[in-house]
Amino acid sequence: MSNELLGAKLDQSKEIDSKIDQIVNEVMSVNSHIKGPSAPKSSLIESAQAHIDKVGTNRGRPLFYPYIGTGAGNGPYVELEDGSVKIDLINGIGIHVLGHSHPKILQASLKAATSDIVIQGNLQPNKEYSLLGQKLLDLAGKNSRLKHVWLTTSGSMSGENALKACRQYKSPAKMIISMKNAFAGRSTMMAEITDNPSLKQGLPSYGEVTRVPFYDKNDPKSTEKSFAAFKEIVAKHEGDISCFCFEPMQGEGGYNSAPREFFIPMLDFCKEKGIPVWADEVQTFCRTGEFFAYETLGFGDYVDVCTVAKTLQVGATLYTDELNPKPGLVSGTFAGASVALAAGHAALSELEDGYMGANGKIQKIHDDFVGMLNELNQGSCRGLLQDAGGLGLMVAVTPLDGSREKMIALLKVLFKNGLMTFGCGKGPFRLRFLLPAILNSKDIQVCKEIIEKSVLELA
Ligand SMILES: Cc1ncc(COP(=O)(O)O)c(C=O)c1O
Repeated sequence: MSNELLGAKLDQSKEIDSKIDQIVNEVMSVNSHIKGPSAPKSSLIESAQAHIDKVGTNRGRPLFYPYIGTGAGNGPYVELEDGSVKIDLINGIGIHVLGHSHPKILQASLKAATSDIVIQGNLQPNKEYSLLGQKLLDLAGKNSRLKHVWLTTSGSMSGENALKACRQYKSPAKMIISMKNAFAGRSTMMAEITDNPSLKQGLPSYGEVTRVPFYDKNDPKSTEKSFAAFKEIVAKHEGDISCFCFEPMQGEGGYNSAPREFFIPMLDFCKEKGIPVWADEVQTFCRTGEFFAYETLGFGDYVDVCTVAKTLQVGATLYTDELNPKPGLVSGTFAGASVALAAGHAALSELEDGYMGANGKIQKIHDDFVGMLNELNQGSCRGLLQDAGGLGLMVAVTPLDGSREKMIALLKVLFKNGLMTFGCGKGPFRLRFLLPAILNSKDIQVCKEIIEKSVLELA
């Protein structure tokens, strides 16, 4: 931006920067009183509960947890309106990858809040839109053929744009090859791709999605079987397949991961048959030890379309030159709030600094956290925390007997004891963690004590 512009003056204003620094310092100073989990304050329980009930009544469905945040947080810790502090291992289902009140996120957000508009659109973007798009392309371009990016406001909408790009490219083909236990989002079409009847009760099925089984590590023939199913589908619907859409590691479906060799035969076959490959990285983005799980798994060359969201603070669809949709196909009023676009950029810049790679912070957190779960499973919680694993910051474990009832009961007991996380899968029902990338070994010790106490309470 030219220095002649008033926008540059705002951008470079020392006065604004020093005021922002003052605000950040004050916020950090207040938040530094949050040091670890604590119980609700008896004087606040009633008013907090009334507020929680009100939100439930307004929504027509109660909140899953008695949770309303106060706006104060410190790293993995967050303060609730009942005065309690929880260690947050779910982070808004994967949004706050740097935890609560990270100074760099605060700083970027405050700076963006001084701009002339709250939300940027695809017709009139400001620089935050351009910077975030460029950053994504720089990261994506390292190990893939992805050349363009379209920003939007959610993972589901990024999926809609991805599917439209694939269908237009393969027009008039409509069928989608997806996977068993897939999750793709909440729009009508993404619910169709999602393989979980309890998330689409009463919705019609349009018959446009076919599925191959995801990898089963207990079945030595798993790769063979999925590939055979894949070829059968292609033979049945030849000429009418718009894309192969899959999560490189399944999230909601049970934190199922697979080795590279599982995907390659299907991906090679897609190339042979001209079927666009869409990697849904809405949940995996930034988490598996590389920015993209296709890098962790080493198949970036095959990817034609990739969707990301969550940690990005907005959604984005990345595509190759060939898959670039014609004008008119994708757009939308909103691209994202200025603050969200700037915070997404700040998060990516921070994560470039020592978090990725085999020796990066994410891999260390993974090893320490999974090690802690295994230690409990072999020790005081013998056999009650099975099959801990996943990739990077996505970790799951099967608690107790693996039933839905026990998993939900454990979530509530963990919450009461100061740890917040969530479930996934549909048999076994798993406890899943979307760990913040700022977790340290002291925090993991805090988690250990709460998990141990909670599991033993229900054993
Ligand atoms: C793999 C995957 N795809 C798509 C979505 C939908 O994203 P959003 O909830 O932002 O619409 C999710 C959300 O959990 C997801 O995990």
